[in-house]
Amino acid sequence: MAATPRDLTAEELTAAVLASFAGAASPRVRVVAESLVRHLHAFVHEVGLTEDEWAAGIDGLTRAGQMSTGGRQEVVLLSDVLGVSMAVVGVNHAAGGGATESTVLGPFFVEGAPVVENGADLGAGAPGRPCLIRGSVRTTSGAPVAAAAVDVWQADEAGLYDVQYAGLDAPRGRGRLHSDGEGRFWFWSVLPVAYPIPTDGPAGDVLRAGGRAPMRPAHVHFRVEADGFETLVTHVFVAGDPHLDADAVFGVKSSLIAEFTSHEPGTAPDGRWMDVAYHSMQYDLVLAPRAAAAHR
Ligand code: BEZ
Ligand code: FE
Repeated sequence: MAATPRDLTAEELTAAVLASFAGAASPRVRVVAESLVRHLHAFVHEVGLTEDEWAAGIDGLTRAGQMSTGGRQEVVLLSDVLGVSMAVVGVNHAAGGGATESTVLGPFFVEGAPVVENGADLGAGAPGRPCLIRGSVRTTSGAPVAAAAVDVWQADEAGLYDVQYAGLDAPRGRGRLHSDGEGRFWFWSVLPVAYPIPTDGPAGDVLRAGGRAPMRPAHVHFRVEADGFETLVTHVFVAGDPHLDADAVFGVKSSLIAEFTSHEPGTAPDGRWMDVAYHSMQYDLVLAPRAAAAHR
């Protein structure tokens, strides 16, 4: 290792950059920065990165940042298609313990969705077949969790989220419910369909360069928050979807696949009269206690 950072060999360069973090006030910053540098340098050497490739990478990251807004999170999308998002889910939400498994948040979550009553029609005006979604929020020992905040969001029959439409004057296919005294929640929406993730940015470039498909299997997103429990971010996927084993962002877990049952017109399980055919799905969301999460 050189005494001064001059005339460095490849090994000395890496060592000098690692040493430059020795004064970091936070031990965690030091661990993360050092590991990142080690892996980035190893990557450059392993592939013999050309200057054109380095410039293309910088350009992709720059464009991803420039096109990211509240409604279009291209940097999140890059993380998703590279499997980084699911790797982070895996590190932070190991399966086991009886809680519902986690999966990616994705780029279409919006903080502050309108609070709606149980039974509300979130799909109002969205293209698609009506779908009644019911569930309950429970502890790992099966007790109901009342007053849990349940954020839901999903695409419509066109495969689009509300934030992807120009000029919608209110959220659609999206809302924040609260579980009742028995932990139950229910709402109407439309049957979710498989959809391609946006491919008009650097994440799409990655997919095309890899000869990869952009599809996500049909699903409904949930984020559940309740005092004393770890926040759950997950989806429920539609059983039988042909893309379940080819998700562009690697987010499918078998335990998150549920039947969306088709019904003829008639009285729906929530008592609503339906004069058109509809679907229904039921799924219980089980929360991990926060103390257990802290010990992971
Ligand atoms: C989503 O399910 O909304 C999603 C997740 C990752 C990338 C794109 C979309
Ligand atoms: Fe989605």
